[in-house]
Amino acid sequence: MHSTTTKSQRSCGVIERYREFLPVSPTTPVISLSEGSTPLIYCPRLSERVGRGCEVLVKNEGVNPTGSFKDRGMTVAVSKALERGTTALICASTGNTSASAAAYAARAGISCAVILPAGKIATGKLLQAFAYGAKIVAIDGNFDDALRIVRELGETGDFTIVNSINPDRLAGQKTGAFEIVDELGDTPDFHLLPVGNAGNITAYWAGYREYRAHQRATKLPAMIGFQAAGAAPIFYDRRIDKPETIASAIRIGNPASWKQACAAILESGGAIDVVSDEEILSAQVWLAQHEGIFVELASAASIAGFFQCCDSDKAAYSFRKIREGSRIVCTVTGHGLKDPDAIIRQMKELKLIAATVMDVRRAIEL
Ligand code: F0G
Repeated sequence: MHSTTTKSQRSCGVIERYREFLPVSPTTPVISLSEGSTPLIYCPRLSERVGRGCEVLVKNEGVNPTGSFKDRGMTVAVSKALERGTTALICASTGNTSASAAAYAARAGISCAVILPAGKIATGKLLQAFAYGAKIVAIDGNFDDALRIVRELGETGDFTIVNSINPDRLAGQKTGAFEIVDELGDTPDFHLLPVGNAGNITAYWAGYREYRAHQRATKLPAMIGFQAAGAAPIFYDRRIDKPETIASAIRIGNPASWKQACAAILESGGAIDVVSDEEILSAQVWLAQHEGIFVELASAASIAGFFQCCDSDKAAYSFRKIREGSRIVCTVTGHGLKDPDAIIRQMKELKLIAATVMDVRRAIEL
């Protein structure tokens, strides 16, 4: 007989996978797009770069339903919002949060307003918010201004804020750490990731700690965060009023989870460092061409940071004397197709070739 899956078996997102660790009850409506369970990819060329028998793995969050890690937190935040009877979501965003919020709001059948810094959102992300039917408001200001406005609007009670200041978001994002431990059998030794509003580094650290508390891991990794040099408030220990970087997702001068990120770095024996726009751009291309993983610029900050740890004496954390056989995980947070502009600028114009085998063979030049 033909067997059919039940409704809950079909929904295989992070709430179903990690229900016992999340703030949900059996009556919470689950709004899911089958997020999470993303690949942890062993990268031979990155591993070679650090040497000493170390293993480098990339956690590819760009393959989530809306193309970024935000979906892990959004499934929990939107499910909880619906449970509480919310009819409208609101968020400030550099692009990915808005794409994710818009998708999960559509799935839940509620409305969603996204407040964005005008002209500073990658094309693909803006297009996503539009396609999913969000109400888009572009302000004459930066992300920090947008978040300030969203906080005030949230206080009116008309909206549920789904930025990472919502604890349900961070609870969902912890599952990234759970998946890594489940796959490796223990925590890695180092975890590298880009830092913007600092929610993700906070969430990963909480996830690792929680898993150790439940004896699912025996140790904790050093958390190493990377900010873009022109948008590095945590590194410089001061608010940046006009943050600037080509990595628009992390163009943030006053991160909401600043204190929690500092605690994660300090408690884990990790570090915060900066990478330049040039390093980010070349890391993006390097990862695509040497490991076959195409990520957006903000995500390439973890790879640029990894290179810095391997190569530079000035790095906030040096891998030069790293313990043999260490395991290093780099989270790449969003898909490369979201923000094609930098790559388009590097593309040469295509020459038109006659439609013959001979001409095509000559044009290939291999
Ligand atoms: N990488 C990408 C692709 C992001 O979109 C973000 C944040 C980060 C890294 C940084 O993560 O904020 O938790 O430290 N994007 C937010 C947004 C701000 O609005 O989409 P964080």
